[in-house]
Amino acid sequence: MASSDLQFLASPGGRLHGTLRVPGDKSISHRSIMLGALAEGVTRIRGFLEGEDSLATLHAFRALGVTIEGPEDGRVTVHGVGMRGLQAPAAPLDLGNSGTSMRLMSGLLAGQGMDVTLVGDASLSRRPMRRVTDPLVAMGARIEAAEGGTAPLRIRTGERLQGIDYRMPVASAQVKSCLLLAGMFAQGDTCVHEPAPTRDHTERMLQGFGYPVRREGQTVCLSGGGRLRACNIDVPADISSAAFVLVGASIAEDSDLLLEHVGMNPTRAGVINILRLMGADIQVLNLREVGGEPVADLRVRSAALHGVRIPRDQVPLAIDEFPALFVAAACAEGETVLTGAEELRVKESDRIQAMADGLQTLSVAAHPTPDGIVIQGGPEIGGGTVHSHGDHRIAMAFVIAALRANREIAITDCANVNTSFPGFVELVRAAGLRVRAAHG
Ligand code: S3P
Repeated sequence: MASSDLQFLASPGGRLHGTLRVPGDKSISHRSIMLGALAEGVTRIRGFLEGEDSLATLHAFRALGVTIEGPEDGRVTVHGVGMRGLQAPAAPLDLGNSGTSMRLMSGLLAGQGMDVTLVGDASLSRRPMRRVTDPLVAMGARIEAAEGGTAPLRIRTGERLQGIDYRMPVASAQVKSCLLLAGMFAQGDTCVHEPAPTRDHTERMLQGFGYPVRREGQTVCLSGGGRLRACNIDVPADISSAAFVLVGASIAEDSDLLLEHVGMNPTRAGVINILRLMGADIQVLNLREVGGEPVADLRVRSAALHGVRIPRDQVPLAIDEFPALFVAAACAEGETVLTGAEELRVKESDRIQAMADGLQTLSVAAHPTPDGIVIQGGPEIGGGTVHSHGDHRIAMAFVIAALRANREIAITDCANVNTSFPGFVELVRAAGLRVRAAHG
């Protein structure tokens, strides 16, 4: 696991230019391993994210007896074992920092008739897991969290699962996906109702693997007992990683950047909608469909941003992009107000508090609220040392902030940037950011 003393030192100023492709989509990479493992036949993946989170999923499936070749230059070959072919692992599965691995795999494994324990790092071991264990128990699973409803999660052999009709109390793609994956192994139908649309990669990919999924309004259903057929997967670049450069090129003067092959699934595109609302100049070029997911090239140029009230319906569609968007708000003229985003408090860190603290250190007026933040933007931000709390997206957001800072920004505890964006420093340096990594 990465060491915690890695710092990023970002010098003020710079502009972003050129053409670049950010690494593969994390959500799609996880799911490609999971469904590939359970499929009949060989699944070939390209564009796989070679970050620690998706590698945690890959290693876990190897420990469950699946032969997986790669990754090599984004190529992974999964030799599927079929719906009933996983083997009980010899030791607990360590999922590192990855909430997606833990929540999706808890559902996938709950119906396998095997004993297995899921563990994670300190951050993952603080995150709420009852949101998955409660409905899984209602389906008949034997799964227990630690006191406080956190990892480790212990799954024990039990009776066959029963389908469930579940109204999710929070808009969570991880919970929805967990229950759909469990539902494949359950008797009867499993239906999940979401209070607001969330990313639908699981549904799309299940269909790509030949597993029928039905959607009616905000409810998605499948019947247990089906099978998955191997297929080829082309993972687009991660819009959540692209978000940092979209914001960077918007706030830095004289920037003009082309981002290639970015995943444009409408359930993920909130960041583009919100940035455009703020006045950003983002062109969507060559929109096409690749393997059931929309993909485009994005041209982004500097623009004078202004503060906005972020529409609540955009919140789940941009849930991972708020650290970057708060930096955009700090550089925008006027006030930006976010509400309805309490979920940000239970991500890899409490992202509302971590961003408010860091922005205040940089002399930005940022006021946290229970479910959001109010930020007064301005032409310039200060420098200083900010803490990432080991959260990859907080670390990357403050690197981008240096484009409009008047002094150096030092960011602590940055090793987890490798969970989602390996090669971040090299890539953004090549595009024009003045940042270097240093061991503190
Ligand atoms: C994810 C869903 C989101 C997101 C996470 C990835 C997924 O979490 O924040 O980074 O791949 O399903 P929630 O479902 O908790 O909102």
